[in-house]
Amino acid sequence: MNGKQLSQRLKEVADFLIDPVFFADIGSDHAYLPCYVCLNKPTARAIAGELNEGPFLSARKEVEENQLEHVIEVRKGNGLEVIDGRVNQVVIAGMGGPLIKDILEKGNGKLKDVTRIIAQPNIDARSVRKWFYENGYNLTAERIIEENGHIYEILVADRGEGPSPYNEDNLEKEMWLGPYLMQEKNKAFFEKWNDEKKKKLMILEQIKQSKNAEEAKVKKFEEQIMWLKEELNE
Ligand SMILES: C[S@@+](CC[C@H](N)C(=O)[O-])C[C@H]1O[C@@H](n2cnc3c(N)ncnc32)[C@H](O)[C@@H]1O
Repeated sequence: MNGKQLSQRLKEVADFLIDPVFFADIGSDHAYLPCYVCLNKPTARAIAGELNEGPFLSARKEVEENQLEHVIEVRKGNGLEVIDGRVNQVVIAGMGGPLIKDILEKGNGKLKDVTRIIAQPNIDARSVRKWFYENGYNLTAERIIEENGHIYEILVADRGEGPSPYNEDNLEKEMWLGPYLMQEKNKAFFEKWNDEKKKKLMILEQIKQSKNAEEAKVKKFEEQIMWLKEELNE
């Protein structure tokens, strides 16, 4: 691992780490991210956390092969239980939003020295934004990128007060689509939400055709489709 093999997705995650870097990569799998970061920044330190034996062993092997044992500790454990007071940033990438939220919720007590959380939910980024909003982490940056036919969202949140990115009148919509991503509206944003709109239109038609279509469900879909049309400038 010299960084050349690292995905663009994880490179973008790495770009959000701030000095001094002592981060925990939760669900590290092969520990590619901590290896890349520590190879490129000699002062960086990391904990690679893994729940499962297979990925834990892969992470250990990768760290050993790169001779990074003095700067990366590979620890086996569930979620945030692997972190200690030295960790100032946490990365949780490549999992579903609800699992990321769950890990944050269960480990909330271990976050008091953590000033930045970088999350890359594969689905349902909304649940992570909501957790940040309700737990004293201010969303400070977002990215949406396309890589190998997949679209990924990266969310960055910093502990404490700061100017909120949300317009309280539009909170639900902005938590769903991402307040910064809605402003930037890049190509990946259009691609993702265009696809989503098509899916929602199809499902709405099916719901309407069913005999006992729930009115609340229809309304919810119609509202979301309206939001998407607004944001896609239709
Ligand atoms: C799809 S991989 C993502 C790997 C890497 N973070 C990335 O973004 O490419 C998810 C990893 O999270 C691990 N995992 C799942 N739940 C976990 C938990 N509660 N605590 C720690 N690791 C977990 C899995 O074993 C798996 O290796």
